Amino acid sequence: MIDLYEENVHYNPLVYKPRHFNPSWNMDGKGYNFTDCPSDVKSIIHSINFLGEDLVGAEIGVAKGHSFMTLLHNCPNIKTLHGVDHYQPYEDYFNDVYDESRPAYTIDEKQATYSKIVCYNFIKFSGMEEKVKFHEMESDKAAEEIEDGSLDFIFVDAYLTYEQTKKDLDVWYPKVREGGIFAGHDYRCDVVEQAVDSFRKKNNITNKMSVFDETFIWYK
Ligand SMILES: C[S@@+](CC[C@H](N)C(=O)[O-])C[C@H]1O[C@@H](n2cnc3c(N)ncnc32)[C@H](O)[C@@H]1O
Repeated sequence: MIDLYEENVHYNPLVYKPRHFNPSWNMDGKGYNFTDCPSDVKSIIHSINFLGEDLVGAEIGVAKGHSFMTLLHNCPNIKTLHGVDHYQPYEDYFNDVYDESRPAYTIDEKQATYSKIVCYNFIKFSGMEEKVKFHEMESDKAAEEIEDGSLDFIFVDAYLTYEQTKKDLDVWYPKVREGGIFAGHDYRCDVVEQAVDSFRKKNNITNKMSVFDETFIWYK
């Protein structure tokens, strides 16, 4: 049985609040239940639930799948959920003070493989596997597989640097339909805030944005 605790990830406590995963999500031997999981996506669950029926959504940067499973198990109106992750080693630079020469943490091949196995196990025993379309590849390559305007909502959370944040915003924004939800994580990191704010300015986006719990969201 997969251990739900986060022993393999080294979050910087100055940036990431400690998160506690409850073993009861490891349901009854038949599958998992992520109802009420306090994952990074939790602040947009209500908004998704009021967005309509038969939704098509995406999470960019899935890792072990805590947010992905939270979406599946708390938003019954999701028809299809795209997941994107390359599951390759990486360095995350969203430190207390952003510095591209000093990663906040590093994920090696063993940890990346562990994340992938945990995530695929969660999906397999989610009871909702048929809703999932997984793109195990680079974020920008995955974007080529998804049509513009085809997503009702998106949660972007793969970027690790300022440059990657800018790129992911450019690549993924057109995928969301008018009136859909554009959301992402790490807005409390200075460089994400800068990238999001300048993206909105550059594209004359004046729709109201809300930020809570490190997550930004606006209706396109
Ligand atoms: C911060 S974690 C995502 C956490 C997840 N959204 C959650 O809430 O549990 C970032 C993930 O993005 C993935 N990632 C980073 N850069 C990527 C890229 N260029 N293409 C695809 N995935 C990427 C990493 O492999 C990692 O699993």
